[in-house]
Amino acid sequence: MTARHPHASRADAAMPPGAPAIGVRIAGCGSAVPDTRLTNADFERMLDTSDEWIVQRTGIRERRRCDPAKGENSRTLSTLALRRALENARIDAGELDGVIVGTVTPEMLCPSNSCRVAAAVGAGTAAAFDISAACCGFVYGLNIANALIRSGSMRTVGVVGCDHMTSVMDYTDRRVSILFGDAAGAAVLRATDDTSRGVVAHAMHADATGWADLYLPRSKADFPPGETPTDEKLNRLQMNGQAVFKFAVKTFGDLIQRTLDSAGLKAEDVDHYICHQSNARILEASRERFGLPEEKLYVNIQNYGNTSAGSVGLCLDELWRAGRVREGQLALFVAFGGGLTWSSSLWRI
Ligand code: COA
Repeated sequence: MTARHPHASRADAAMPPGAPAIGVRIAGCGSAVPDTRLTNADFERMLDTSDEWIVQRTGIRERRRCDPAKGENSRTLSTLALRRALENARIDAGELDGVIVGTVTPEMLCPSNSCRVAAAVGAGTAAAFDISAACCGFVYGLNIANALIRSGSMRTVGVVGCDHMTSVMDYTDRRVSILFGDAAGAAVLRATDDTSRGVVAHAMHADATGWADLYLPRSKADFPPGETPTDEKLNRLQMNGQAVFKFAVKTFGDLIQRTLDSAGLKAEDVDHYICHQSNARILEASRERFGLPEEKLYVNIQNYGNTSAGSVGLCLDELWRAGRVREGQLALFVAFGGGLTWSSSLWRI
């Protein structure tokens, strides 16, 4: 094992020498998106915007939207995604020791989505908790589940990332509403005797000095100094797009570099970069910085927009079902989001 990068904090870590007596494998994946589509043409009818502007600035062509009339929300999407992951893994839900759901748009705050999801899939009395880490929810969840399994606390854990972002959009705000859609992605992780498998390096960070660049106010007391609170803005995502863009371009690249350094690897050693889909230009900047071929950095933002905690698991599931993620490969999961938070998880599959 190599030493950690000199600028890395304790939150950047490679596995300590000799530590893992248990490996972790991804046993199966699943995802779920609503059927209803919200296309750029729909936005052209609703707002002063154009397909050309949206595609050029974001890469997005359409998103999926939960239909409340059908009872769809982050709980139902998460349940479907985890059920599909269990079927794919051929693992009975009763074998789950834990269910972790990353979401900032739970159906309710109490009970958590994870409790209801665990019950719906038939996970008995498995431990269940939500993670509120915005777009990092799934990647934080992978790291936490990996640690729980490696420590011997659990053998089988379902990790879900899901957000119902269309429930927190102001559809009169063209700067924000065109970006987001709804989705869930899930993976079932399981202990294995092959100790080389599982997380080989990771990072988990947060810095609230930038919280006001991306926040979801629930009361008028929540607004940062300088902002005028209004009823219309309550429970609607507020974002300083340019500030988040600058943060993301720098953080994404630096995070990838530090995680590679922690593991003693070069960019070309990694088979898959499975990244949060926030803007095609942010992804392209990382691809160029590391000289990666297109097939190594998966992009599906054109079909779903930014689905917050849903995006990384959704990418994984699409790659997994296409047979592109194989045992022995290296996959680097990367995300950033509100908080501000940022996180990576480098896996030997
Ligand atoms: N359609 C047409 N014009 C739009 C528009 C839209 N949907 N949204 C903004 N504009 C306009 C602005 O009003 C502005 O016009 P002005 O110059 O007359 O004031 C102009 O386009 C440029 O706006 P700007 O905000 O500078 O655009 P941008 O190139 O930064 O792109 C984002 C905006 C939101 C796409 C970009 O900043 C971004 O992706 N940021 C990161 C967001 C993100 O990732 N958030 C989630 C983090 S998990």
